[in-house]
Amino acid sequence: MLKKNKVIAITSPKGGSGKTTTAANLAVVFSLYGKKTLVLDTNIGTASLGLHFGLTNPPVTLKEVIDKNFPITNAIYTYNSKLHVIPSALSIELRYKPATLQERIRRLTDYYDILLTRLVQKYDIVILDTAPGFNAESIAAILASDAIIMVANPDLPSAIAATKGVEYAKLLKRNVLGIVLNRVKHKSYELKSEDIGRSLGSRILSEIPEDENIARAIAHKMPIVDFKNMSKASIAYKKLGAKLLNFSYKPTIFEMIRGIISI
Ligand SMILES: Nc1ncnc2c1ncn2[C@@H]1O[C@H](COP(=O)(O)OP(=O)(O)O)[C@@H](O)[C@H]1O
Ligand SMILES: [Mg+2]
Repeated sequence: MLKKNKVIAITSPKGGSGKTTTAANLAVVFSLYGKKTLVLDTNIGTASLGLHFGLTNPPVTLKEVIDKNFPITNAIYTYNSKLHVIPSALSIELRYKPATLQERIRRLTDYYDILLTRLVQKYDIVILDTAPGFNAESIAAILASDAIIMVANPDLPSAIAATKGVEYAKLLKRNVLGIVLNRVKHKSYELKSEDIGRSLGSRILSEIPEDENIARAIAHKMPIVDFKNMSKASIAYKKLGAKLLNFSYKPTIFEMIRGIISI
């Protein structure tokens, strides 16, 4: 699935659906599968990707690179031998910069064009964590990608937002790889994944279960696939990564037992 699509944007119009968690964990999974991976936080306004990798106060981020022309190499942090992270700033911008939506989109799109043309050659996969909503940041990130993955939760507001998100990505002529249905609890009141897939006209790539180890991992400033790599969500992320790389995931004996007794 990723052969032709090197730059993947993890998107959804809704905040809190699981974009950043998915971007961080997929990036680690790809790196564990031997792919040279870059994950970049394009959510400049309310960045959080760095926190998943222990980058609580990085000296240079994408924000300084864009606003102050710092070299991009200063904002690239090594997480493991195959994974590099470009965080964005956690501080808030108090300076008011008037600019129309079109101007902001054009500025960011031009910037990503130059940046990604250079970086794409150095990596097998580039993952973009994106801002929620339909604004300059999220639109520019979608435009910078080859394909998107939509993150949704199994409830009506999230499904409606995701439907709009998929329509928007198609309008921008981006390939929609599918939906990651996150925080699945298998409760009777939840929307069924087949129904969400059908109404979005897109396939469900993966169901990531509700897993409190995710919040624990974030508190430890680590992606869950490294913090607790046998947890339910970690296994789901490893399967998702394998699917995107076109190979079938072979569960370990522990994972098979866990699946049978669903702990
Ligand atoms: N599968 C999950 N199970 C439990 N909690 C989750 C799960 N996915 C995300 N979360 C929680 O939801 C919060 C928001 O997720 P995040 O990835 O930051 O969303 P977004 O980037 O879309 O705003 C996280 O801080 C995490 O605590
Ligand atoms: Mg986020």
